[in-house]
Amino acid sequence: MANAEVDLSPVPMGQGMTIKWRGKPIFVRRRTEDEIEAERNVPMHALRDEETDDDRTIKPEWLVLVGICTHLGCVPISNAGEYHGWFCPCHGSHYDLSGRIRKGPAPLNMEIPPYKFMEEEKIMIG
Ligand code: FES
Repeated sequence: MANAEVDLSPVPMGQGMTIKWRGKPIFVRRRTEDEIEAERNVPMHALRDEETDDDRTIKPEWLVLVGICTHLGCVPISNAGEYHGWFCPCHGSHYDLSGRIRKGPAPLNMEIPPYKFMEEEKIMIG
């Protein structure tokens, strides 16, 4: 199926879930106000692949990522690493809670899949 409808409502604040879309893992994370604020306050010069947090979300509370490391394609571990986001155990890439690469060999931020909100807490990916 090309598109996937995802009900976000079961995801508690500060937690996430992983779904499959076109054979790829999609990470969905419901971010707290403090987490959003922290990501918004990261200065551009601290980023290898410069993107603001606001550029990476439709609604800041919901971060939606293609859960594939941009180094060589492993699946990063959630709630891990030095930046409280994801850690790729293959060669040690650390991603923040915006899915942005912060340390390690990966060159780019984790990709944002195409998606839109169908309802307050329901998205269509694809
Ligand atoms: Fe993730 Fe190499 S594949 S660090």
